[in-house]
This record gives sequence, C-alpha cells and structure tokens, in this order.
Amino acid sequence: MKPIKVGLLGLGTVGTGVVRIVEGHQTDLQSQVGSPIVIEKVLVQNISKVRAVSINPAKLTEDAWEVIHNPEIDVIVEVMGGIETTKRYILEALARGKHVVTANKDLMALHGPEILAAAHENGCDVLYEASVAGGIPIIRTLIEGFSSDRITKIMGIVNGTTNYILTKMSKEGAAYGDVLKEAQELGYAEADPTSDVEGLDAARKMTILATLGFRANVALEDVDVKGISAITREDILYAKRLGYEVKLLGIAERQDDYISVSVQPTMVKLSHPIAAVNGVYNAVYVYGEAVGETMFYGPGAGELPTATSVVADLVAVVKNLKLGVNGKQELIAYKEKKLKTDEQ
Ligand code: NAP
Ligand code: HSE
Repeated sequence: MKPIKVGLLGLGTVGTGVVRIVEGHQTDLQSQVGSPIVIEKVLVQNISKVRAVSINPAKLTEDAWEVIHNPEIDVIVEVMGGIETTKRYILEALARGKHVVTANKDLMALHGPEILAAAHENGCDVLYEASVAGGIPIIRTLIEGFSSDRITKIMGIVNGTTNYILTKMSKEGAAYGDVLKEAQELGYAEADPTSDVEGLDAARKMTILATLGFRANVALEDVDVKGISAITREDILYAKRLGYEVKLLGIAERQDDYISVSVQPTMVKLSHPIAAVNGVYNAVYVYGEAVGETMFYGPGAGELPTATSVVADLVAVVKNLKLGVNGKQELIAYKEKKLKTDEQ
C-alpha cells in the first residue's frame, strides 16, 4: 500500500496535536483510508526549538518550498497561522495539485472564495473544519447536514479564549490579565491574543459560518465587532446579581435578503443553556426553517480537540483522493456563492 504523504506547515499547539493523532490513531486511520498516512516533512520557523512531540529532526525544515514543492507530498496541512505568506503557500500548493487542510480562520474569512476557486480550478480539496469552533464539526454540519434546509440564524460562543476568561472571572473572581496569560499558556489564544479579546477571531469565524450557512458572500468588514477587554469583574458580578452571565456571542441572522452579523459581549439569562457553556467550550445554535433549533457543543480550542478536526479533514481528503472525487465537497458551496455574486 503506497503511503499518503503529508506536508505539515507548523508544529506549534495544533501541529503537535496533528502529529500525535496521526501517529497514535494510525491503525484506525489506515483502516478507514486503506493506506498508511505519513508526515513526510514539517515546516517550522526555528528548527533548533525543543519540540513537545518527538519527531525525526530530518523531517523539519525552515524552507517552505522543501515542503510545498516536494513531489512526494500529496496533502498540505497548514497549521502555522498568518495571512499573506500562508495564502501564497496554499495557492502554490494548489497550483501543484496538492490538497490542503487548514485551521486558519483568518485566511479563510478574508480569502476563502479565492482559495476555494483555486482549489476548484486545480481539482483539489481545501477543507477547513478546524477553523471554527475547534473540535465541533460545525462546518461539515452546515455544508452537508443542513443542505436540505434554509438556515435563518446562527448564534453562539465561537471563541474559547474569551469564554475561558469570562468563566474564570465569573466563577473564581479571577483577574482578566491573569486568566488571559493562562489561556495563552494552555495554547488557546492566537499568536496575537488581541484578536481573541477584541472579538476579531470570533468575527472571522462568524463570517465563515454565515457565508456557508446562508450560502452568501459575507464580508468580514460587514460584521459589527466588540470584544471583552473592557469587561470588569464588577460588570460580571452585577450581571449575575440580576440573573445573567456575560458571554461573547456571535449572532448571524437572515431576514428576507438582509443578513446581519455581530459579535458582542451579551447578558445571557442564567436559565439559558448558553450561560452554562464554560471554560474553553464553545456552543453553536443553528436555526433552520424546517428543522427548528439545533445546538452543537464541544471544546473550541486546544491541541487535541483542534487536531481532531484537522485530521478528520485529512481523512476526508484522502478518501476523496482514493475515489478520485477531490474538489467536490466544497464545490456546491462555492458554486452557490459564485451564482450569488454573478447575480449582484
Ligand atoms: P502556534 O502554536 O503559534 O504554532 C505555529 C507554528 O507554525 C509553529 O510551529 C511555528 O514555528 C510555525 N510558523 C509560524 N509562522 C511560520 C512561518 N512564517 N514560517 C514557518 N513556520 C512558521 O499556533 P497554533 O496555536 O498551533 O495555531 C496554528 C493555526 O491554527 C492558526 O491559524 C490558528 O488560528 C489555528 N487554530 C488554533 C487553535 C488553537 O487552539 N491553538 C484552534 C483552532 C485553530 P516554530 O515552532 O518554529 O515557532
Ligand atoms: N484562539 C482561538 C480561540 C483558537 O480561543 O477560540 C480556536 O480557534
């Protein structure tokens, strides 16, 4: 059985989880895809850094082209973050017929249509389940699970770092700065945690969810964003006395042809299930005209939960590769978005 060879871009929190799952679950993965999955080459910034996972040093490189231009590699897994350089790497990989799995919401919220178009032109898959809500398979659910319905609203907690901070401030009276530091040490926060605490990370995720859920082109700049950096322990205590928890909520709604998307700290009644979503957990409510209300809950960040989604995408790409149907999964969403743009 010819192995499927993977080029990994990044070996930080998520990359480490990907290596652990690919190695630890190899037998299960192999039984699903019919071939061994091998991490062939790994791009890092600093080759001399001590790694959290054992890896053959000969696999590490600081030269992106050693991974992307490697003719042996079938699939690129991008877990390095960043926007412009990363976009260049992904487009180059697609141009060479390599399939891509990414956890990068910054990139997909800003350049998703262009990347998906390039994937389509090259007959490749680009899957990005881990880009929203970590371990919750919400993207696949929106594309496939709700394909028969018309979604009217998507609402929830889509940032683990801020929910971790708000929970610790509420339950333990912890100080904002101390908990943010903890979230960084736990690998939940972005490289620049400003995007977490100021709501931009959640806004990027809501852009992706609204684009897929409403089958429309939703732009990041159209999202109203307010983060949690101005929320004090006193605000949280006061809200609790009134019977509320403060949560950073993303809300995307569609009424007729009008779509609104916002991210803001919100007082949630203690009796509402969202008030009980604590720590790094996320929850996403999806309302469909036919199905009614549904709720998806799970860990929204962190090494293994996020890597679970990344490796699930990798399995999907490899299965498609074996069936020779790559490019199809995203095709429907892409075509519908393009139709909408052409109409405008
Ligand atoms: P991280 O811990 O900071 O790791 C980033 C990795 O990429 C590091 O190994 C770093 O190399 C490498 N890297 C960064 N820039 C590079 C460059 N220009 N060239 C070569 N290598 C580079 O980040 P992370 O938390 O794993 O997040 C990775 C991606 O997943 C981001 O897009 C993030 O938004 C997304 N994500 C993260 C989580 C989470 O819970 N952490 C959840 C969902 C999605 P060195 O190790 O040598 O520094
Ligand atoms: N920084 C992000 C969060 C990582 O805390 O939700 C998961 O996307």
